[in-house]
Amino acid sequence: MCGIVGYIGGKNAVDVVYNGLEKLEYRGYDSAGIAVIGEGKIERRRSVGKLVNLKENLNTNKIFGNLGIGHTRWATHGKPSEENAHPHTDCSGKIVVVHNGIIENYIPLKNQLQKEGHIFASETDTEVIAHLIEKYYNEKSSLLDAVQSALKEIRGAYALCAICADDKTQVVVARKDAPLVIGLGKEENFIASDVSALLAYTKDVIFLENGDTAQVRKDSIKIFDGQCNSVERKSQKVLWNALQAEKGGYKHFMLKEIYEQTQTIQDTFRGRISDEENKIILQSVGLTKEDLLKISRICIVACGTSYHAGLTAKFLFENFTKIPTEVNIASEFRYAEPVVDDKVLTVFISQSGETADTLAALRLAKEKKSKTVAICNVVGSSISREADYVLYTHCGPEIGVASTKAFTGQLTALYLLVMFMADKKGTVSKKQLAEFIAALRDIPTKIAETLNLADGIKGIAKLFQNTKQFIYLARNINYPIALEGALKLKEISYIYAEGYPAGEMKHGPIALIDETMPVMVIATDSKIYEKILSNIEEAKARGAKIIAIANKDNTEIVKNSDYQIFVPSTQEYLSPLINVIPLQFFAYYISVMKGCDVDQPRNLAKSVTVE
Ligand code: M6R
Repeated sequence: MCGIVGYIGGKNAVDVVYNGLEKLEYRGYDSAGIAVIGEGKIERRRSVGKLVNLKENLNTNKIFGNLGIGHTRWATHGKPSEENAHPHTDCSGKIVVVHNGIIENYIPLKNQLQKEGHIFASETDTEVIAHLIEKYYNEKSSLLDAVQSALKEIRGAYALCAICADDKTQVVVARKDAPLVIGLGKEENFIASDVSALLAYTKDVIFLENGDTAQVRKDSIKIFDGQCNSVERKSQKVLWNALQAEKGGYKHFMLKEIYEQTQTIQDTFRGRISDEENKIILQSVGLTKEDLLKISRICIVACGTSYHAGLTAKFLFENFTKIPTEVNIASEFRYAEPVVDDKVLTVFISQSGETADTLAALRLAKEKKSKTVAICNVVGSSISREADYVLYTHCGPEIGVASTKAFTGQLTALYLLVMFMADKKGTVSKKQLAEFIAALRDIPTKIAETLNLADGIKGIAKLFQNTKQFIYLARNINYPIALEGALKLKEISYIYAEGYPAGEMKHGPIALIDETMPVMVIATDSKIYEKILSNIEEAKARGAKIIAIANKDNTEIVKNSDYQIFVPSTQEYLSPLINVIPLQFFAYYISVMKGCDVDQPRNLAKSVTVE
């Protein structure tokens, strides 16, 4: 996720902002920049890559000012480059802005502003904010008024800071659905997207609320709510140390990332569902109806957790687009003789976008003239650059080696892709699409409810921390979630765990079942719910302890299982998004209880760039 730091006071803003940005490095970024108001004009330095590059730039091209803003960028719109790095300016170069979040309607706004004569210098959504502020800024309208007017036109998520060369006594800030905190000093104030950037200077902070704007001067702070009424926001003392602050107060990045999923799922579908009509808009996927009608098969290729997202998507592609779909492990695909040609659509899923096997498979598919789509989290990564079309998950950096929020982001992106294609192809009815969109919009609330189950899951995990083995069972669209749950447990707690389609048990694995083999089973609402109940009976009869993930109205499950995790119900095809959360928690808590290195499990790397 991007980082913001701002400063106004008596010190050199460049030093304070740079130091703050360094504290945000752990969040991941691809470029950085700082702007200050020097001698009556904006001075700006930006560099691609690590902060040391910005430092070198600042050392050779020195700037100075008592008011400044800075940013570390994790690309969402436009590749990582100096032009796309923040801060962004208006046409006059007098107004500069840094921004975290996504402006959903930036394309129509940009088109309109261009018609009005504004010249854009980057591919970012952020730049529209600078030009909109310019549009409203005049003798009668202060920087604060102009920012408030600009925000009325913007749809999406933002945390932002704006400064204007005409007035070096204020920074105007605003937030909606992205965090922003003001640090309180003596004759100086600080701004940051994350409290860890401020701790070296102050522990007294004000967390802005959704919709707030604020005018920050060195000796005063005025805050306004979403209706521009002046409001008081209480200051708080932060008691975290620097490391706790990086993890947002969570013990591990993995736990933080599990909790981020209410937000990250929204970030994946934000701006991709039309508010006016029930339509999925994927501007980066230029597949036409004619292209889609020519596709005879879909071939998904990925590794690890991303492969599990692909297995889930197979059910969706076949159900909704009616196109036969196969899912391949990239390391196998690349050395097989895959039957792929220009009638096959290949879909590559990768959080990092750098996984060597997936990249090699993509190159092979391209050689065979297949049209390629990438689902990636890291903008500008090799896979995202080389595929014909890319759909970014917008989950922000995932630091824990065990993938959590990237997985639910991949699923969400795949739901969008499936429905986009089905709608274009005419294989989904308007009613189905409307129901899907309504159910998807509800998912973040249901995820939030599921996150509240953490303590109960921790209690169950405690009972199984010394287990040596586990079987995970599910059927149909949740079968890949059983695989994913088992992978999570293997990866971070080193317990042998296997995922199985429950109906396949009787063909072999049931021989393993006795009282030493606990079974985790996904038994949420489904058209084959009763079949799953029979599969549970089979395991229970052989002495296995059963943990069931079920919906509240599945009352039979209480008799059939030993422990129950009741999750909110949703449409069956969206249930993987909910059902995976308890499995992430379960693996996490067992890992912590066993004293394992949760975020950096042994023998594993976050991005596997070698064969
Ligand atoms: O970056 P990618 O999505 O291509 O990575 C693929 C796998 O290496 C990755 O999902 C791995 O399995 C994770 N550690 C799972 O938690």
